[in-house]
Amino acid sequence: MKKILIIGGGAMGSAFSIPCLENNNSVTITEPYSKIFSKDLSSKNKFHSALKIKLPKKLRFRKFSNNLLREKFDLIVIALSLTGIDFIGKQLKDLKIKPPILVLTKGLKYEKKKKRILTISEQLKKNYNVSNISVLKGPCLAKELARKDQTSVVIANKNIKIAKSIGKLISTKYYLTEYSKDVVGIEVCSAIKNIYSMVIGAGQSLNSSSNLFQKSILEMKYLIKYFKGKDETISGLAGVGDLYVSAAGGRNSKMGSYLGKGFTFKAAKKRFMSRDTVEGEQLAREIGPFIMRKINKKKIPLMIYLLRAILKNKKLKIN
Ligand SMILES: NC(=O)c1ccc[n+]([C@@H]2O[C@H](COP(=O)([O-])OP(=O)(O)OC[C@H]3O[C@@H](n4cnc5c(N)ncnc54)[C@H](O)[C@@H]3O)[C@@H](O)[C@H]2O)c1
Repeated sequence: MKKILIIGGGAMGSAFSIPCLENNNSVTITEPYSKIFSKDLSSKNKFHSALKIKLPKKLRFRKFSNNLLREKFDLIVIALSLTGIDFIGKQLKDLKIKPPILVLTKGLKYEKKKKRILTISEQLKKNYNVSNISVLKGPCLAKELARKDQTSVVIANKNIKIAKSIGKLISTKYYLTEYSKDVVGIEVCSAIKNIYSMVIGAGQSLNSSSNLFQKSILEMKYLIKYFKGKDETISGLAGVGDLYVSAAGGRNSKMGSYLGKGFTFKAAKKRFMSRDTVEGEQLAREIGPFIMRKINKKKIPLMIYLLRAILKNKKLKIN
């Protein structure tokens, strides 16, 4: 029996605990930020308000503390949203934690000082001295994983042996793991699909969305090359796999559909999605100004139209 610590008791962190427990691990979950999730996880029946299910009784909840991170675990999983990465980086800084760290969070960060875009694993390594990081991405709706619907994800580490040893700990017959050495490509794909799923959602018919899907893949190929990831990653789970699930449903494509109908971003957000976090919007604000300045606009027209729609609140014109 191995000991796993999950940092982040939101939908994804909590759903992830299910295959980990089923694989006979001792699983502890901690929540550093949300009072609601802390309350859910520490309650007697462990009803999770986002997943709308009762989590297994065997799942242990511990209050977040820096000391908890120093305890002996075989795997530490980060399942916070992008805004929590600096927080956890600061907590882990210089702790010289030995167990492998697995990052589920999707996103990219613009580094102002160095004027470049960093993936999350680069951010944790370069800014917070955290080592032994693997990343897990792919098409995974937390609610479906929590229901034990079949889900396939990819674990990336330059040292594929580490990725496979993590896979052994967490995979079950419904949670299947593939492996890759292309850490950068996997991280970039899993982030930019949030923007391209808005683009595809903007299509007002299946025919036009399919056309936008195909053009999005071409742009993603260009961007992966720019960030020095591998072309083949696009056709994998973190590329087309994750793009499909995000375009077929979810908050990004929903926002895209309003933009495609002619609403400005601000109007659509206020009128239809005022309480929703749209990850593609957050990413557009984070990396958009860099992309507009540094990358050849002719190579990524759909991305540029979408960025203008969000950053400048202009009507989206892509069809
Ligand atoms: N790798 C995968 O297979 C996969 C699948 C789905 C989602 N995700 C990613 O997992 C991440 C979490 O998604 P979710 O659906 O659980 O979201 P959620 O909103 O349900 O949970 C977000 C988590 O981040 C924490 N958080 C938010 N802001 C914070 C801050 N400022 N400081 C510290 N912690 C903060 C919350 O307390 C909570 O624990 C996202 O990046 C999402 O894209 C990964």
